[in-house]
Formats: sequence, structure tokens, C-alpha cells
Amino acid sequence: MFIANWKMNGSQSMLSDWLEGVGKTLDKSLQKRCLLCPPVCFLSEASNIISKTNLNISLGAQNIDPNSFSSLTGGIDGAMLKSVGSEFVIIGHSERRENFKERDSLLLEKLKSASKNGLKVIFCIGESLEDKEENKTSKVLKQQLQIIKKVELNEFMIAYEPIWAIGSGETANIDYIEKVHKRIIDEVSSYQKEGFMGVSYGGSVDSTSSEDILSIKGVKGLLIGGASLQYQEFCNIVLSNH
Ligand code: PGA
Repeated sequence: MFIANWKMNGSQSMLSDWLEGVGKTLDKSLQKRCLLCPPVCFLSEASNIISKTNLNISLGAQNIDPNSFSSLTGGIDGAMLKSVGSEFVIIGHSERRENFKERDSLLLEKLKSASKNGLKVIFCIGESLEDKEENKTSKVLKQQLQIIKKVELNEFMIAYEPIWAIGSGETANIDYIEKVHKRIIDEVSSYQKEGFMGVSYGGSVDSTSSEDILSIKGVKGLLIGGASLQYQEFCNIVLSNH
């Protein structure tokens, strides 16, 4: 799966140009492997364009609020996301963990909200540079994965995103990605969850690095931030997968 995480970028015109461009460049079977996660305000329009122009691209939200917070100014729950065409939701991205102090207790509520509303989850985990330098990567990732055990999920994918690689222009090296993916797969497989879709890599992926990363055993997809904003570059990444 190729996940375009637009973060806080985009506009109506960028959205229509992007969808038109991807629709023209990728055939239906490749479109089927693409997931666009624009800011939530564009989901409805994206869904309309996708159905009107008969595209095969899925949509996801970048965040969800827990159903348990019934009074939450600015909140958006899973049913609302579904109603505007979202099939997936990203939970646990390091930017939100850090900026909004999203801790496991909140992430667990978000996972429950997704599950209750039948949304598929992209659950992000990743170690900091400090964790890596102190050889704590496995410990930290295992700890971040624990909440997965506590909730009945529909289909879910783990996105491994080393925090030090996000937006840095430097991807993790191939051996490192392979080693870490294997550990994550072993850990999550031990939970025996039926909906486990595998592990994606994210962190400064572009069309110069995608082919090598996609050829690593255990890499089931890519979570792409900056390089997903231009449809041509996003399509080049998808097309680099032979
Ligand atoms: P990046 O972002 O590709 O710009 O590094 C990836 C992500 O944070 O999802």
C-alpha cells in the first residue's frame, strides 16, 4: 500500500489536480494500492471526485477523536470520518504524539473509536534518535505496540517511522529497516490478530529511495509525507515497485 500523508498541506485545487494526475498516470490495479490521507476538510470533496471520475483510490483521515469524549469542541469521531468517505485512519503519528502529548491511554481510545466505526487503522510507531543511539529501538517499539493487544481491531497496518528519519531527507538504511520490520512482524504476529495487514515504512521516502526500500523483505508499503504532495513524484514512487 502507498499511503500519501499530506499532513497540513493542500487546497481544493491541489486535490483535484492530484486526483486527476494519479488517475491518468496509474492504472486501476495500481490505484487500488493507493491511500490518500488529506486534511479532513478535503475528504468529502475527495470522495466526490473519486466516485464521479471512477477512480480506484482509497481515502483515510489523519486523526480521529475518541467516541468517549461526547463533548469535545472541534472533535471528529469515526462515524463522521466514515460519512465523508474515509475507510482508514492514521493513529499514533509521532508528530501528534509529540505536539499534542498523545499518550497510550488516548491512543487506546482512538483505536476503540476506529474499531467501533469499522475504520481500518494505520498505527504509527517509531524510535527517537536518542532511543536509537542508546540501543533502545526494540524496547521502545515493543512498548508502543502493546496497546494493539488491548483492542479488537478491524484490519490494521503498522507504519514503522523512525522519528529521526521523518522530514529529514535521510531514510533509515536498508539493513536497519529489514531488521526492525522483522522484529515488529514477529511481535505483532504473536498477538494473533486476524486483521494484521503487515508493516509499512515511512520517513523521507521519495522516488530515489522507494525501489530499494520496497524490495526489503517484510516491507508491505510506504507512508509518504513530503514526497506525496506532487502527484508525479507520488506516482513515480508507486511505479518504482516492480
Ligand atoms: P516524510 O513524512 O515522508 O515527509 O518524511 C512521513 C510521515 O511523517 O508520515
